[in-house]
Amino acid sequence: MAKTPKTIFVCQKCGRQERKWHGKCADCGEWSSFVEERFRASAQKQSKTGAAVKPAFENRPVSYSDIKPQDDDRTSSGIPEFDRVLGGGIVAGSLVLIGGAPGIGKSTLVAQVSDHLAKLKSKVLYVSGEESDRQIKMRGERLGIDAESLFVLAETNLESILAESDRLKPDSIIVDSIQTVFSERVESAPGSVSQVREVAGEFMMYAKKTSTPVFLVGHVTKEGSIAGPKTLEHIVDTVLYFEGDRHHNHRIIRATKNRFGAANEIGIFEMTNRGLIPVENASELFLQERPEGASGSVVTIAMEGTRPMLVEVQALVSGTHQGSGRRMAQGFDYNRTSLLIAVLEKRLGFQLAGDDVFVNVAGGIEINEPAADLGVAAAIASSFKNLAVPAETALFGEVGLTGEIRGVLQAQARAREAQTLGFKRLIVPASNKKGIDKLLGMRVIGVKTLEEALDELF
Ligand SMILES: Nc1ncnc2c1ncn2[C@@H]1O[C@H](COP(=O)(O)OP(=O)(O)OP(=O)(O)O)[C@@H](O)[C@H]1O
Ligand SMILES: [Mg+2]
Ligand SMILES: [Zn+2]
Repeated sequence: MAKTPKTIFVCQKCGRQERKWHGKCADCGEWSSFVEERFRASAQKQSKTGAAVKPAFENRPVSYSDIKPQDDDRTSSGIPEFDRVLGGGIVAGSLVLIGGAPGIGKSTLVAQVSDHLAKLKSKVLYVSGEESDRQIKMRGERLGIDAESLFVLAETNLESILAESDRLKPDSIIVDSIQTVFSERVESAPGSVSQVREVAGEFMMYAKKTSTPVFLVGHVTKEGSIAGPKTLEHIVDTVLYFEGDRHHNHRIIRATKNRFGAANEIGIFEMTNRGLIPVENASELFLQERPEGASGSVVTIAMEGTRPMLVEVQALVSGTHQGSGRRMAQGFDYNRTSLLIAVLEKRLGFQLAGDDVFVNVAGGIEINEPAADLGVAAAIASSFKNLAVPAETALFGEVGLTGEIRGVLQAQARAREAQTLGFKRLIVPASNKKGIDKLLGMRVIGVKTLEEALDELF
């Protein structure tokens, strides 16, 4: 039998394992990311006779027709926006990861969710490895939390947490945060890839075995993460990330993966001293500070999951002080921005090589879908020509490399949202026009090329 190595080297960014130390990770390309970690004790465990120890669950193949379907057993979290990102409520036995930058509001969210759940007469166990029970109480007082069946456990030892869970038998568990919890069976430090995986794996087993939903809070740094949520994404059922930044009051929670619902669904909240308050009308929020009659500002309609949302795209084109112009994009893909600039130059004769071009999606939201192309191109054109786009006009469409405007998905839903918000004129791909041109009070213009669209606008 081959000798099992005692230690392995694990990339702290993506989790790749090597027998020897490497300077660069062959999977994710990160430098100096390998850390020596002790081999998992459980993996080496063998009985005295040399036979492998029996696994905890013994599964045999079963006939597909004998499998009972799992009921879509969902509980409301009491927070509609949160239910929405989960795909319609909390699924029994699901493992949910909630990631986000430091201080963005992860603990606030889970505290509010536990309060709501506990008020439904269900027992909630809130495990905190970061804050003492008093600190949690302090936040709780501010948020108005007063549920009786909410239990707080300040503990970081996985085995103790699981033992307490077995005793208390909570209806849901919250772990804040996964990086602070460690298993005795793994010898590397808390927060390392091996620990984080082991801990998540154990909670997954617990969740499935007892049908208890478990929420794991995880920290993410701006660059992605160190030993963080990225390595957990494939283990858990659902991944939710906080988006946006702390300089805005609103917080966006996005489902980037969901085994029980649509991915990319978002929930929008406002951070107040009483906690996170759901925002009902997202479009209004993102348009509220829109300057009227200013060049370089355009309203486009993005789809976030199943929700259409009006957002303001801003562009600023100005003479550069350096040799060749800089390009910058915030909230929209950088490469896509460059591509749209190239189309404007080549197909419409815009001279942008000597200009700086900045693109920004107002409100700190990210819109990464081709349907936003037309909005971005129009904003750049508007700033370049120094001509404002009429305030009651909105547009969407994908821009192709020849300057053609291509149809997008869910044109109906987008158009209706614009109508609701009182927009009077809509510029859309010609192929999308049919079906939406009968909306009351709106003039819908179908365009085939970027040139046509700009002719309509200016
Ligand atoms: N009194 C207050 N009024 C308004 N907002 C507050 C108040 N106190 C805290 N906050 C908000 O709550 C945020 C901290 O929330 P929370 O502790 O839930 O974040 P977190 O993501 O859990 O942070 P960490 O990474 O430190 O665990 C602050 O950044 C701030 O926006
Ligand atoms: Mg916290
Ligand atoms: Zn790696």
